[in-house]
Amino acid sequence: MFPKIRMRRIRDNERLRKLSLETTLGVNDLILPLFIIDGKNEAQNIPSMPGVQRITVDLIEKFLDKTRVPAVLLFGVPGPEKKSSLPSAAFDDTGLIPRAIHTVKQVRPDIAIITDICLCAYTDHGHCGIVDAGSVDNDKTLPLLSKMALTHARAGADMVAPSAMMDGQVAAIRKVLDSHNFTETAIMSYAAKFASSFYGPFRDAAKSAPSSGDRSSYQLPAGNRQEAIRDALLDESEGADWLMVKPAMLYLDVIQELRQKTHLPIAAYQVSGEYAMIKFASNSGALDERKVVMESLISIKRAGANAIITYYAKEAAQWLSS
Ligand code: PBG
Repeated sequence: MFPKIRMRRIRDNERLRKLSLETTLGVNDLILPLFIIDGKNEAQNIPSMPGVQRITVDLIEKFLDKTRVPAVLLFGVPGPEKKSSLPSAAFDDTGLIPRAIHTVKQVRPDIAIITDICLCAYTDHGHCGIVDAGSVDNDKTLPLLSKMALTHARAGADMVAPSAMMDGQVAAIRKVLDSHNFTETAIMSYAAKFASSFYGPFRDAAKSAPSSGDRSSYQLPAGNRQEAIRDALLDESEGADWLMVKPAMLYLDVIQELRQKTHLPIAAYQVSGEYAMIKFASNSGALDERKVVMESLISIKRAGANAIITYYAKEAAQWLSS
């Protein structure tokens, strides 16, 4: 006779249950994305992402007041007058993101600052790089991404996060940062970024939808896990300090496999469409928002992520503290 496995011995004993949890979620696992706009005292709602706003730099202090979220990921959303084909607003030392960095450092020096490095919100055509003869020119884009990263490093960013998916972007940025003595500025690479329809609400939020074509020439096809791992390991060899998988919930297998192939920390991005899915379903009463969010975040950690970028970061931090 085999001894009966009695899970209840553990489950019905609160002390043993806690001791037996394999995966836990903590406040320090969370990264909050912030959309920054020009102007004063303005918070704009985003219809496809209820509860998320674009805010002006002067509202950052109020927005981060008392939150225990340990890190923010900053996105600049410049007005249409700032967009161009060679987007100088992306590397202006007095631009949106440098000002936002200064403010965060001043009002919350305890919060780590990560900045998105991509041209899509700054180009008039909305592509992530320089467009030449109708297509994105990888190699012409690299110096601009490097310049943007340098601008953010100079302003005080702790980590820059290149998301344009140009080949060689991590190496190019590392080289420029090092040659300007920003050897301590880290790089989080959007290493495995799939061409996903779940970025839809973000493109409203960041006003960065491409005016023609899509991003399938530089983002990964949904079915290609091996290519994703290859890309991520290449970024590691180019000098990335963190690797990111994005989106998160539909790509847990990619997180899991990458966890086994790298010793770098992994971030997973619970993207705008994942947020919208939970938010709208919760608003309609179909899902219990708090429970569903916590389950989704634990699942992402279980797959192997060390940190999660999520629009729910502030709420989750509060729920975890209460
Ligand atoms: C910029 C970028 C995108 C996201 C993060 N950085 C959009 C895109 O690639 O189209 C999406 C994030 C989200 O959906 O929350 N390239």
